[in-house]
Amino acid sequence: MITLGVLVSGTGTNLQAILDAIASRKLDARVGVVVSNVPGAKALQRAQEAGVKTAVVDHRQYSDRRAFDAAVVEALRAHGVELVVLAGFMRLVTDVLLHAYPMRIVNVHPALLPAFPGLHAQRQAIDYGVRVSGVTVHLVDAGTDSGPIVAQAAVPVHEGDDEESLRKRILQEEHALLPRVLQWFAEGRVAVEPGSPGQRARVRIAGS
Ligand code: GRF
Repeated sequence: MITLGVLVSGTGTNLQAILDAIASRKLDARVGVVVSNVPGAKALQRAQEAGVKTAVVDHRQYSDRRAFDAAVVEALRAHGVELVVLAGFMRLVTDVLLHAYPMRIVNVHPALLPAFPGLHAQRQAIDYGVRVSGVTVHLVDAGTDSGPIVAQAAVPVHEGDDEESLRKRILQEEHALLPRVLQWFAEGRVAVEPGSPGQRARVRIAGS
């Protein structure tokens, strides 16, 4: 069983998908702690309702991002976290968190990377006019949504979609894909192969 730490800022529907997958035994994990940078975030309530420990690390109380990350790492370590999940966590992470959990931080992004990284990925997809978008689960490195890709799922973009309708369709796929990927981690099937010079690191999933 793997111990997860889930970092959140908002509504926490991905957190809910993780909690539901654990409850229905599809995911052999426990959530050691949910950390939010936003006091009062809906995600905290979801954690409490599931009997999961929570911590608020309010970024406004730290002089810089690294000091904030150090406090987050302290909370994660205090709860034995082995794998960190960014689930709607709206802060850029620094080397402090990256070095504490090297290639052990998972992010879910609402687009098919490397298309549309950063904020408002669904709006970027609509504005560009793509016919297909989707969801990417990837490991976090020092760039913005640039780390090795673990899994992706495609979602059609329909005529007449707006940012909100596409957001909802993609979110459904996020809720399916993220717990499935976390189960691969729980089974120890995810390996990162460092890229040779000039090449990207890549993820191998054993048995797939
Ligand atoms: C999701 O769309 C996720 O891809 C993005 O932020 C959103 C979080 O939603 N990183 P929620 O808080 O899990 O409901």
